[in-house]
Amino acid sequence: MTEVIIVQHADEAGRLVADAITALAERTPAAVLGVATGSTPLPVYRELAAGAGSGLLGGLSAFALDEYVGLAPDDPRSYHHVIHSEVTLPLGLDPSRVHAPSGDPGTLSTAGARYEQAIAAAGGIDLQLLGIGVDGHLGFNEPGSSLASRTRVKTLTEQTRRDNARFFDSPDEVPMHCITQGLGTIREARHLVLLAFGARKAAVVAAAVEGAVSSFVPASVIQLHPHVTVVVDEAAASELRNVAYYRHAQQHKPDWQGL
Ligand code: GLP
Repeated sequence: MTEVIIVQHADEAGRLVADAITALAERTPAAVLGVATGSTPLPVYRELAAGAGSGLLGGLSAFALDEYVGLAPDDPRSYHHVIHSEVTLPLGLDPSRVHAPSGDPGTLSTAGARYEQAIAAAGGIDLQLLGIGVDGHLGFNEPGSSLASRTRVKTLTEQTRRDNARFFDSPDEVPMHCITQGLGTIREARHLVLLAFGARKAAVVAAAVEGAVSSFVPASVIQLHPHVTVVVDEAAASELRNVAYYRHAQQHKPDWQGL
């Protein structure tokens, strides 16, 4: 089932998803979280950080979706560093249990398989947070990515390099390559939670949720997953066709059903 929840504001989404993660940590203190970078999941991390004093999250492990090739883990623009400062520290996670794929150019040929093994050794991902690129990418799975792909090196599109240039001094500094969990890897997480906010994401949200499943809209792979929650604000929901039903289902959601 692809459940679509429409919220008024990104902060409301942050609270909703943070509550679901807290409930997961209550049920399963050593649960495995899949974390995403980008601006979209920040309200979730903020909410979780606000409640982190309880120590409830301290047993969680986390796996990031992706990393740039060629940026050292202590480079502030690397996703290792972003996850460390946005997630590991504020949520009080044990750094030895927080992982990101290695973008070290010297060991790239085995980095994908090693990351897959690490996820499997942790028992798989319980809840995977996802943002979405305007071109439909999940992680860094650009259009054309195999729906069965595993963690591997990819070449970034010019669109994605432009979109991410805001984190660099100049667009030319954005790495050309990345290493990303594959769509097949992402599909194995037990619960996918995809977040999108703002009108800029409206067309791609509609394509991913209601369009044809296609490697040209990598995020459409979520339609093949048995447990997906899409949380969008009104602007990002504005091109969905089935919106009346989503609101209806939201209003009549059984009490016992979590996110
Ligand atoms: C990056 C990340 C993705 C993220 C996307 C959207 O390219 N690799 O994981 O979902 O950007 O970013 P934002 O949430 O900032 O729109």
